[in-house]
Amino acid sequence: MSAQPIDNLLVENRVFPPVPAGTLGFDRWHIGSIDEYRALHARSVGDPETFWREEAGRLDWFTPFDKVLEWNAPDAKWFVGGRINACYNCVDRHVQAGHGEETAIIWEGEPVGAGGPEIKRLTYRDLQVQTSKCAAALKALGVKKGDVVTIYMPMVPELAVAILACARIGAAHSVIFGGFAPHAITERVVDASSRVIITADGGWRRGDVVPLLKNVEEAVGTLANQGHIVNHVLVVQRTAHDAGRHGWASGTARIGPTKFHWWHDAVYHAGDACPCEPMDSEDMLFLLYTSGSTGKPKGILHTTAGYLAFVQMTARLTFNLQPGAGQVFWCSADIGWVTGHSYVLYGLLMNRVPTLMYEGAPNFPAAPGKPAGVGDRFWDIIARHKVTQFYTAPTAIRTFMKWGDDLPAKHDLSSLRILGTVGEPINPEAWMWYHEHIGRKRCPIVDTYWQTETGGHVGTPLPGAIATKPGSCTLPMLGIDAAIVNEQGQELGPNQGGLFVIRKPWPGMLRGVYGNRERFVSNYWGRVKDPRTGVPYYFSADGARRDADGYFWIQGRIDDVIKVSGHLLGTMEVESALVSHPAVAEAAVVGMPHDIKGNAICAFVTLRASWAAKNPGRKPDDDLRKDLIAHVAKEVGALAKPDQIRFSEGLPKTRSGKIMRRLLRDVACGVEKITQDTTTLEDYSVVAKLRADEE
Ligand code: WTA
Repeated sequence: MSAQPIDNLLVENRVFPPVPAGTLGFDRWHIGSIDEYRALHARSVGDPETFWREEAGRLDWFTPFDKVLEWNAPDAKWFVGGRINACYNCVDRHVQAGHGEETAIIWEGEPVGAGGPEIKRLTYRDLQVQTSKCAAALKALGVKKGDVVTIYMPMVPELAVAILACARIGAAHSVIFGGFAPHAITERVVDASSRVIITADGGWRRGDVVPLLKNVEEAVGTLANQGHIVNHVLVVQRTAHDAGRHGWASGTARIGPTKFHWWHDAVYHAGDACPCEPMDSEDMLFLLYTSGSTGKPKGILHTTAGYLAFVQMTARLTFNLQPGAGQVFWCSADIGWVTGHSYVLYGLLMNRVPTLMYEGAPNFPAAPGKPAGVGDRFWDIIARHKVTQFYTAPTAIRTFMKWGDDLPAKHDLSSLRILGTVGEPINPEAWMWYHEHIGRKRCPIVDTYWQTETGGHVGTPLPGAIATKPGSCTLPMLGIDAAIVNEQGQELGPNQGGLFVIRKPWPGMLRGVYGNRERFVSNYWGRVKDPRTGVPYYFSADGARRDADGYFWIQGRIDDVIKVSGHLLGTMEVESALVSHPAVAEAAVVGMPHDIKGNAICAFVTLRASWAAKNPGRKPDDDLRKDLIAHVAKEVGALAKPDQIRFSEGLPKTRSGKIMRRLLRDVACGVEKITQDTTTLEDYSVVAKLRADEE
């Protein structure tokens, strides 16, 4: 193997070969050598019909499909004519097959109070009963097949139940991350024409209550004013923090026409005989909103059979999942993100491997003897539950590095076999730390590259087959025809940076942007075509290169979205939030490198004269910065808080009036050699002007 040095780019020569399964405690690898991988990959893209027919055969069907694929680019129909149910494949079939008493979900709540963390175990039978009851309750609230149910919940077992209950009756779920603000709810509920919301009174995070119900109440009120009526809100009691405010009896509380029901009443009293609805392969399974380069998030649409087939395969192969073999899988992602959908829930439940779900944060409570904010909860969880596969994000790993090697060292991490990372490129230093201090140099690391849109992993090492290099997501998943091409669609040679595309359809691919055909076509299929046939390629919006061994190195987004702590944020979303503040006239948001978060947000802001006039004595100072940061948190959510706000008298623009983001990015990243203090943009606009003069 070789790694080619190239200008300006990371050179990484370390290679870690796969290890024999036995040394890690697996009886075998699903794919045990590079030759086997290469042969399978060639077959999977050369004869996709046979390959995917076999994979689909691992699922339980009510009616078999007639045809594997109908492809009229960019529209794919997979497993045409088949009937299937996602909840059945995750839950009921395991009960049918005699595994009803096995653990499906291990849940650990945020430790509140002195008694240690609350732990619950749900068997497949428990899940069957609870999803049936929840499904019956949803039906009683008028939810029908094809409706979209919005879910805005903390990481509690009822969240898993709610998602599966929707799938059970053929309603699509649209999960909104619990860290988002009311505005995110209104926007997504309207876009999805959703009439029912499932939430909780609150969620626990670092000992505080996240007021989910209050946010929903606010959203529902705003929605009613906009003419969108939410009929019902189903509320799990989790924190019981506000007895006065939440002291209503189920079904009696209202905001306008919206009725509120307690889960423990509506679900508890519902019958438990609610069968799984046979769904067409291409019926919608869920919407998941993701940030785009315009201000409005996109409702990424996934359908039933293709998503299931792809996610069961990727989960099984990437993590070498084996049912009944004592594995305990833990993905630390929130279910509000796609990682949680595919690799906390669906992928694990389908493969009948227990999945651990945790509520809270890694640094609460603080580790013994450490200051607040420094925690070892993850290592404690791994040791106590004997986690075998652990999957987390680079931003978390970098945080753990900062907290110190002694924290993981104190815990017994010997149960671990495979480590995974996801969400953004991992820097080799963090990869090595993960390898040494968590994997104790034994465990393979799978750096999984994928997107909300791809449904599951599209580039990842397979632990028994593919040697790893720190920072590379290595080779394409089976069935994925990935390439690095130029704007003309021509494949580039080793180490030439280009666009990451997928040239053939795959079952887990998005089927649309909900209600916006144009955005679907132009965002993903409008940029690159097959130079010979003109058929569009799927473009992921990431820049990448392949090295001489064919390994992919993802360089990051080339559109106006930023990955902050592994979460996608549209620059426009943050800008819209900023300009909705009375002080702000114009705002431009760019990403800048950050040691822990990967990227942080830097906002350039110009102020309104009217604000200055109305607020004599106030200046563009740190107090205003704090106000603006709090305002963004309130409008979008805490994860969108800018790290830096720079006030300016003007923003650099092109003649046609477009903000010159590249320039601002350079300023934010400190690329410019500016000798004066650059904390305000006035300083910079001088430089910008000078630069313009030079050109
Ligand atoms: C980035 C998260 C490098 C990438 C599953 C992609 C990665 C975006 C990796 C999708 C990785 C995700 N290496 N970059 N292993 N995984 N990305 O939709 O920029 O939240 O386009 O899905 O995350 O983010 P999303």
